[in-house]
Amino acid sequence: MKPLLAPSILSADFGNLKSEVRKVEKAGAHLLHVDVMDGRFVPNITVGIPVVEALKRCTELPLDVHLMIVEPEKYIPDFIKAGADWVSFHFEAAVHHHRIATQIKELGAKAGIAINPSTPVSLLEEILPYLDFVLVMSVNPGFGGQKFIESSVRKIEKLKELSLELNPELIIEVDGGIKVDNVERVLKAGARAIVAGSAIFKGEPEKNVKEFLKKLNQFE
Ligand code: DX5
Ligand code: ZN
Repeated sequence: MKPLLAPSILSADFGNLKSEVRKVEKAGAHLLHVDVMDGRFVPNITVGIPVVEALKRCTELPLDVHLMIVEPEKYIPDFIKAGADWVSFHFEAAVHHHRIATQIKELGAKAGIAINPSTPVSLLEEILPYLDFVLVMSVNPGFGGQKFIESSVRKIEKLKELSLELNPELIIEVDGGIKVDNVERVLKAGARAIVAGSAIFKGEPEKNVKEFLKKLNQFE
């Protein structure tokens, strides 16, 4: 599949969210990545259900909601009701992964599991056939603008190998420290959904989206 670009609003100007979203939508982004943090699973607090609901009203882009929260199953129905189209929860924040993935799909959204940099892809072996996507964190979750962790490239390759065997339709998403100059490496490794926050919203979002798309469009 053609790679998808998912700008993360975490680095956008929250005082002008609507116009920030419009800019990336107009420039050709495919998804809008929304980072939900609870101050418990990660040491930061961001946005919740009302913001997802408001974003839904200002864009046609599918909302890719990345839940960095404990007990995600408690809130998933409300996030989907508010307009989340893709929902990922953290492997490390949940116990009943299969139950939660099924819950997300039954409510009509795409189901994904996010994994921290130190969580091995081998732990996903049993759940992989039930997922639409896996979000590989290439920084420790919690903040935008951090440095890409190099070992993530090998991890994406390993996950790609595993998915060819267990779930060829699986989409590998990568999140954290992605810039125009390292995106080709994660694409080559097998990533097909690319999250970028600071590399898109710092500076000129339209121009940044177009530069990313030039790289993404070289891949099938
Ligand atoms: C970090 C978030 C990311 C963040 C990425 O916990 O999950 O989505 O916005 O920001 P950059 O692209 O600046 O690393
Ligand atoms: Zn994210």
